[in-house]
Amino acid sequence: MTGNGFFGASTIVTGAGSGIGRAVALALSDAGARVLAVDIDTSRLAVTSERATGAPIVTFTADVSVAQQVRGYVNAAIETHGPPELFFNNAGVAGHAQPITELSLQDWASVIDTNLNSVFWGLKFVLPHMYAAGRGAIVNTGSIASLQGAADRADYVATKHAVLGLTRCAAAEARKNRVKVNCLCPGPVNTEMVAKFRSAVSSAGSDSAPTTSMATPQEIAETVLFLLRPDVPFLTGSAVSVDGGMAGLF
Ligand SMILES: NC(=O)c1ccc[n+]([C@@H]2O[C@H](COP(=O)([O-])OP(=O)(O)OC[C@H]3O[C@@H](n4cnc5c(N)ncnc54)[C@H](O)[C@@H]3O)[C@@H](O)[C@H]2O)c1
Repeated sequence: MTGNGFFGASTIVTGAGSGIGRAVALALSDAGARVLAVDIDTSRLAVTSERATGAPIVTFTADVSVAQQVRGYVNAAIETHGPPELFFNNAGVAGHAQPITELSLQDWASVIDTNLNSVFWGLKFVLPHMYAAGRGAIVNTGSIASLQGAADRADYVATKHAVLGLTRCAAAEARKNRVKVNCLCPGPVNTEMVAKFRSAVSSAGSDSAPTTSMATPQEIAETVLFLLRPDVPFLTGSAVSVDGGMAGLF
């Protein structure tokens, strides 16, 4: 890494085919980082890569809920750009708009795999490379749902609370190696996830859809880049809310 701290940095962004992940991948490309963009959806990844206006974005198709595929994208990053220095551990799904009494074990398990186990596997396979280098920065994507509960959101809220706990444990373990780990906690952001969730909620007759104004993915990307900056090393183990005040104000 030189100059602005991102130029030439080997960087992994998951969920880079859409929404927040795409905005972060594009912002990092503009800052000169060498991005490996990971998503389950190959065609959306191609759009992200085509839209890059800075350093070229290399794409890699993987399902982050499968440990071997997480190992696969970490290996691909190493082969393409060198050991990861920056990691946005972001891919996730909205979960099901159902009360606990209706939520099937299968639906519960699929959200745990995609939103929580994926983050664990990412940390497990990326951290050793950052430890070896004695530096690195990771942002895990939590949510306002890392801080608050809601009716009919048990699978999503449970995974996002756990992502915050996992972040704090990783930060505590990593700080002796000068690696920082933070948890991004957005409120509603104008992405496909919100659009899909709103339609699922209305067909389920639930009232848990977000009704407030939303951030843009680009606004969230600005915060992620700040959290990844190497010149703010004391910022670690934090839950960083970008939610228009939803979590902290009344
Ligand atoms: N949009 C919001 O309001 C909001 C608020 C808080 C937190 N978040 C979190 O932000 C993150 C990104 O969400 P977004 O709003 O950009 O959603 P999005 O649906 O626009 O993008 C998510 C991306 O993740 C990919 N993905 C899903 N499952 C995957 C898997 N198993 N393997 C690989 N890729 C997979 C999708 O293909 C998609 O490209 C998620 O973790 C989400 O929980 C979103």
